[in-house]
Amino acid sequence: MSASPRHLAIIMDGNGRWAKRRRLPRQAGHLMGASGLKRIVRACADREVEFLTIFAFSTENWRRPADEVSALMSLFIQYLTREVKEMREQGVRLRVIGNREAFDVPLQRLIEDAESATAHNTRLNLTVAANYGGQWDILNAVQSWQAANPDTPLSALAQQDLAEHLSTAGMPDPDLLIRTGGESRISNFLLWQMAYTEFYFTDTLWPDFDDKALDAALTWFGTRVRRFGKTDEQVSGAPLKTYSLGESL
Ligand code: FPP
Repeated sequence: MSASPRHLAIIMDGNGRWAKRRRLPRQAGHLMGASGLKRIVRACADREVEFLTIFAFSTENWRRPADEVSALMSLFIQYLTREVKEMREQGVRLRVIGNREAFDVPLQRLIEDAESATAHNTRLNLTVAANYGGQWDILNAVQSWQAANPDTPLSALAQQDLAEHLSTAGMPDPDLLIRTGGESRISNFLLWQMAYTEFYFTDTLWPDFDDKALDAALTWFGTRVRRFGKTDEQVSGAPLKTYSLGESL
């Protein structure tokens, strides 16, 4: 059984190993990773995924060698400049989440331009997490709520208020997370938002993750019973017998 999640999140891991296995520089892996991303965006639009959120650069990725960071930034710039036309044709709306202040001003402008050029598209919402960290997002949400409500004590902050100040405000939480590259962790991605997300980990390296691999993940997702804290019976709609205290079971 295959069912598309409404919101798919992806950690695109394994570019470096893909390149190393071919005795290529890591940057070559990222380049292949970027073309893999274009393919998956198309495939998600075809499969009626409404929201696709991808982890392109974490707040921790600045620790990588300077030449790799700069290659990743160049790829990001290329993506923002070259893909906007195709995004418009495909009905893809682009958003970038993460702390933009660390990017130089021309890159910040480029992000704003790509977001406004695609703002009216509705087929697929593509969110690129760049200089993003889940812990940063939560802290930022609390601070932004407090700034918007300076006279309200922090004890009045409700879960829904916090969700409305996250960088993903207005989006449904991810239904499925795919992480390629063999690691089984979420690496400070959408921490708050993934409370009830199904996690799919695969050894396939990101540049090798093609439509067939995507379909395998979607088929697995289609077999999951999502209970959101309820019991199996409640979710399946089977009648529940209720007992009064003292009645023998
Ligand atoms: C992880 O692979 C991947 C990244 C840190 C960057 C992901 C970036 C891309 C797919 C390309 C560019 C993105 C855009 C939006 C244009 P890794 O380097 O950690 O691989 P490894 O674990 O094998 O070393």
